[in-house]
Amino acid sequence: MNDKKRIYLDYNATAPISGEVKAEMISAIDLYGNASSMHTSGREARVQIESARRSIAKLIGVSAAEDVIFTSGGSESNNMVFQSARDIISSPDGGGRFGGRTEIITTAIEHPCVLNSAKYLKSLGYKVTILPVDEDGKIKISAFEAALSERTLLVSVMFANNEIGVVQDMKEIVRLAKNAGAFVHTDAVQAVGKIPVNAQELGVDYLTMSCHKIYGPKGVGALYRRRGAPLGPLIHGGHQEDGLRAGTYNTLGILGFGKAAEIAGARLSEYQEKTGALRRRLRDGLAAAVPNIRVNGHPEDVLPNTLNVSFPGAEGEAILLRLDMKGIEVSTGSACASGSLDPSHVLMAIGVRQELAHGSVRFSFGWDNTPDDVDYVLEVLPEIIKNLRAMSTIKSGE
Ligand SMILES: Cc1ncc(COP(=O)(O)O)c(C=O)c1O
Repeated sequence: MNDKKRIYLDYNATAPISGEVKAEMISAIDLYGNASSMHTSGREARVQIESARRSIAKLIGVSAAEDVIFTSGGSESNNMVFQSARDIISSPDGGGRFGGRTEIITTAIEHPCVLNSAKYLKSLGYKVTILPVDEDGKIKISAFEAALSERTLLVSVMFANNEIGVVQDMKEIVRLAKNAGAFVHTDAVQAVGKIPVNAQELGVDYLTMSCHKIYGPKGVGALYRRRGAPLGPLIHGGHQEDGLRAGTYNTLGILGFGKAAEIAGARLSEYQEKTGALRRRLRDGLAAAVPNIRVNGHPEDVLPNTLNVSFPGAEGEAILLRLDMKGIEVSTGSACASGSLDPSHVLMAIGVRQELAHGSVRFSFGWDNTPDDVDYVLEVLPEIIKNLRAMSTIKSGE
């Protein structure tokens, strides 16, 4: 790290470990016992892990903490659900235990770890429906109802989107899926700690969480599984987590997760107010200072900290790099894959044209940001856009 002024506006990608979490982890650094061991050192670690599990369960409104299974993160939790569905469908009785259901429904704006799990199953011949979304990013309920049937085994819809922040109508989605007799999974990685999430009240069967988005360490996450909902291991081995997730417990990571969950729950409304005010300040400031911009996503049902903006006539990567030179860290809607620039699948799904999708930037706020940070962005970004537009061959406003 250098000591150049740095304004981090990429909290949806990851967050730094908070001071409280760091202190918790440092104080536990010598807790070396294997939590599966029966002796004192093992039991010491186990006690702390179970306490962290309770904090995480509390954050998502779950009374039975044992329904929370520790994993290595959101990607693993999501893969676990899709692999379990595949195992049911391809079991010798063809999923007979679950009414012979063989179909999976998900959406076009999922995180790649869901979307690619779904596409993988599709490539193996499983019936997977990928639902479209409307121009605000909400799933089209009519298309969802049309896709649901007595053959639907699993519905997987993300709670809140990482790129545009749109929050789905989960209650209605769960109601419809349950009426059809399907199991419901939600990837709540971006929602937990940012907006209220109550897995039990919602009635979902599976809910995915990740620790590093809520100011805890990377490489640790969890899957809530409602008791009775089918689940099998992705990683086979020992008997940890009831045989559902083998491997010696990541004690430090889990304790960090527990602390992060405790803080996220206690400070949720403060977080929403703080980041929401920063988002509005930037959105309104940009609208006033930069002509012809488009704010992507739903106008109201959006994460408080997430603002996705398209700047016609400017390339997202160029904006990102110029902002970075000024010490401001953001993310673009596009990713550089194998030499070709792929526009964001999320922006494409909400109908943003390709050249506009390439000119999109995601700002995601967190605890450490201040109004001064926003004002600094507003000081430098309009000039960057003006210069890039002047250089661009793409006509702005098309
Ligand atoms: C919506 C969503 N799901 C899943 C993940 C993956 O989580 P992890 O990084 O813990 O594997 C992310 C992280 O980028 C995410 O934003």
